[in-house]
Amino acid sequence: MTQPWSNPLRDKRDKRMPRIAGPCSVVIFGVTGDLARKKLMPAIYDLANRGLLPPSFALVGFARRDWADEDFGQVVYEAVKQHARTPFRQEVWDRLAEGFRFVQGTFDDEAGFARLAETLNKLDAERGTGGNHAFYLSIPPKAFPQVLEQLSRTGLAKKSDGHWSRVVIEKPFGHDLKSAEELNKIVNDVFPESSVFRIDHYLGKETVQNILALRFANEMFEPVWNAHYVDSVQITMAEDIGLGGRGGYYDGVGAARDVIQNHLLQLLALTAMEEPVNFSPAELQAEKIKVLSASTLAEPLDETTARGQYTAGWQGGERVVGLLEEEGFSTTSTTETFAAITVDVDTRRWAGVPFYLRTGKRLGRRVTEIALIFKRAPHLPFDATMTEELGQNALVIRVQPDEGITMRFGSKVPGNKMEVRDVSMDFSYGSAFAEESPEAYERLILDVLLGEPSLFPVNEEVELAWKILDPALEFWAAQDEAQGHPEPYESGGWGPDSAFEMLKRSGREWRRP
Ligand SMILES: NC(=O)c1ccc[n+]([C@@H]2O[C@H](COP(=O)([O-])OP(=O)(O)OC[C@H]3O[C@@H](n4cnc5c(N)ncnc54)[C@H](OP(=O)(O)O)[C@@H]3O)[C@@H](O)[C@H]2O)c1
Repeated sequence: MTQPWSNPLRDKRDKRMPRIAGPCSVVIFGVTGDLARKKLMPAIYDLANRGLLPPSFALVGFARRDWADEDFGQVVYEAVKQHARTPFRQEVWDRLAEGFRFVQGTFDDEAGFARLAETLNKLDAERGTGGNHAFYLSIPPKAFPQVLEQLSRTGLAKKSDGHWSRVVIEKPFGHDLKSAEELNKIVNDVFPESSVFRIDHYLGKETVQNILALRFANEMFEPVWNAHYVDSVQITMAEDIGLGGRGGYYDGVGAARDVIQNHLLQLLALTAMEEPVNFSPAELQAEKIKVLSASTLAEPLDETTARGQYTAGWQGGERVVGLLEEEGFSTTSTTETFAAITVDVDTRRWAGVPFYLRTGKRLGRRVTEIALIFKRAPHLPFDATMTEELGQNALVIRVQPDEGITMRFGSKVPGNKMEVRDVSMDFSYGSAFAEESPEAYERLILDVLLGEPSLFPVNEEVELAWKILDPALEFWAAQDEAQGHPEPYESGGWGPDSAFEMLKRSGREWRRP
């Protein structure tokens, strides 16, 4: 008899064994940038340290500095020393560093790309990197088309028999639906969709992947995971930091494009989607696409959305300045640092359940969580005074920090009266498992090298997410024309008044994480 947990599609390999990347080179464009230094180069070292990279591995930096291979090596060394997750081991470093190369060039420099092709060919011949190349575009989004065109012109984007060529693209992917469609066209003219890996680093987080385990490996949650029991869903990504020095990237982008379009709508898709037939990338993507297709902004937008810009205030006992006084922002900037939207998911499972999504800078605490708020019990056989401190049941997936899950429910207060009060039951990754979670970028870079696309949004998902968000972006742009700046909110608080009003209208309130 077939066991209920057996999967006919499962391959013969034992899935508990770590998969190690095959021979390859990784080229990082934008190697002098913040992301490369803090995340990418340390993640590559951590993968090497965990034995997940092959001996025939090379890391090639491409940038406009006049550096030799050794200078590049020194830059990687400093990034690893400062930001790697795992301990420094000299023998791992020495082996990895033998594969470091640096190519000097700008994105419009054909000779630079010719040198890059030459370097990769040489590595294939001398280091055995096997003609397999991953190109990581850790560069300003406006430079994506130019680099893609250069990769196409030099033939580097083409995969020849038995070899692969893949491109990794950072967010933001476009700034609205139209620009995302145009960019997808440019990307897909150069690389087939199966070779495109769009990064949404949230999907690399253990806690985000655990949404699937929680929902589909257990029997106790799925029966209540629907409009019969759930009153509303709140997805929050709050940051306590401000934007000093990040004007170049953030100004004109704002909170909704930076976080809601990608991270929060992906979290919504994983929370709201139906069970996939199996966990193959195609089945997983099909379910996410279905639920994103069924999602729209609730209306009217002046009541169901909110947007704000932080002003001076107190944060962590320190006086901090407002966005308009931050270095890199002009005093006329209309960029929002807080955005909230209400999404209706028009499916049988979710009809009538609002999904509230919010994100902001300089909020009270750094926290990302998904909270399912349950309906109240239809009848309470207690005197009203006994349940004054009883709220709504909640299941909270704590994405970061303090990764885990909290269940909130009512419990009798000890004593000789019947008094019911909310209590919490916690699962915490830190105490339940001895293993430390890898960084999201470790998982994602390894998946690129393995050609495993499950955790990367495909072109259709990205476009659907813009389609959901675009009406809010247009509405806010019109508001700015009429009113000037987005609504101010004080640093260290939980956003503008309109965000509170947004929920108050229906008798709800935001969770205070
Ligand atoms: N930083 C993050 O945490 C983060 C998070 C999510 C997504 N991202 C995305 O990741 C990408 C990189 O972000 P970042 O923060 O690392 O940016 P960044 O610090 O501004 O770095 C940009 C990099 O691109 C290079 N570059 C720019 N124009 C160039 C040109 N014409 N020719 C050659 N090189 C050029 C810069 O080189 P020079 O040093 O020579 O200027 C630098 O290495 C962006 O798409 C961003 O949206 C970043």
